[in-house]
Amino acid sequence: MTFAKSRVLITGGLGFIGSNLARRLVGLGATVTLVDSLFPQYGGNRFNIADVESAVTVNICDVRDAHAMLHLLRDKEYLFNLAGQTSHVDSMIDPKTDLEINVTAQLSILEACRKVNPSIKIVFASTRQLYGKPDYLPVNELHPIRPVDINGINKLAGESYHRLYNSVYGTRACALRLTNTYGQGMRVKDGRQTFLGIWVRSLLEGHPIQVFGEGSQVRDFNYVNDCVDAVLAAAESEIADGKVYNLGSSEVISLKDLAEMMTKLGYGGSFELVPFPPERKAIDIGDYYGDFGLINRELGWSPKVPLSVGLKKTVDFYKQHGKHYWE
Ligand SMILES: NC(=O)c1ccc[n+]([C@@H]2O[C@H](COP(=O)([O-])OP(=O)(O)OC[C@H]3O[C@@H](n4cnc5c(N)ncnc54)[C@H](O)[C@@H]3O)[C@@H](O)[C@H]2O)c1
Repeated sequence: MTFAKSRVLITGGLGFIGSNLARRLVGLGATVTLVDSLFPQYGGNRFNIADVESAVTVNICDVRDAHAMLHLLRDKEYLFNLAGQTSHVDSMIDPKTDLEINVTAQLSILEACRKVNPSIKIVFASTRQLYGKPDYLPVNELHPIRPVDINGINKLAGESYHRLYNSVYGTRACALRLTNTYGQGMRVKDGRQTFLGIWVRSLLEGHPIQVFGEGSQVRDFNYVNDCVDAVLAAAESEIADGKVYNLGSSEVISLKDLAEMMTKLGYGGSFELVPFPPERKAIDIGDYYGDFGLINRELGWSPKVPLSVGLKKTVDFYKQHGKHYWE
């Protein structure tokens, strides 16, 4: 890895994936600056960086502040652009905020790079949500793009701007379409970020895990350390410039089987099938799993951590540190 002494900026750096990335980059010897707004309804949490806080610079600021971002981006070699409004349901309730954060702010970040730091390398965190309901499985990057919610449309625009700046201005940028990512530091106080968060909380609080519908929908999941590996591989590679890559896993599982797996991690627990809340049903994508062959061939990435191992690590983490995440 080539990050020793490199100056990196992580937007969304107090969030789930951003903080795990920050920890890894500190370990690799990078000089790390984190930008995060810490809006309470998003995934940012100061405890996420408790073990590395003295080794990073934290800037509590909004990526919508174009002037602040211009200043922060000036001297960086890498931008890991992870700040985002991530809730699909919230994007339907408040589409304009999603637009401002996931689109307008992305455009002004790219403009700042073009103006003051044209040689920076950018990795943008996109999402598999923009494919919508799959026509076929596994979904590869050639699958039609048909977002089923506002968040999917806005993330597509953010991703497209990154690729456009790469092709038109030579601002080296690529995007990873993340699938469901889980692990230490994810939001567990509610289901805003991922249903797995609320499942972990239910398990540890002794409530049945609630599985929507029949629980027959299949999904793939990445443990956060695997996701961080992919982000760093994309940052390091020139082949990645201008590209978009799916992440994913070949360990495909139905939500019912996943709930059952969670009850066998050593913490007991149970699950129940409950009707789909209408606001979620309306934007549900049915079965999904991704084809990650392209990133495997071009960057050598594949997920390493089996689901049962990653889930156990995750639940162990919240058993120990849950009090920093419940409220
Ligand atoms: N976790 C997943 O399963 C998943 C799946 C697909 C895509 N992604 C993408 O990965 C990225 C990181 O997601 P995450 O799971 O770590 O979520 P997260 O909510 O934990 O992290 C996002 C961070 O961005 C910060 N943020 C939001 N708006 C901001 C603003 N205006 N200014 C500054 N900071 C702001 C939040 O405070 C939060 O800390 C997001 O862009 C998300 O869309 C995540």
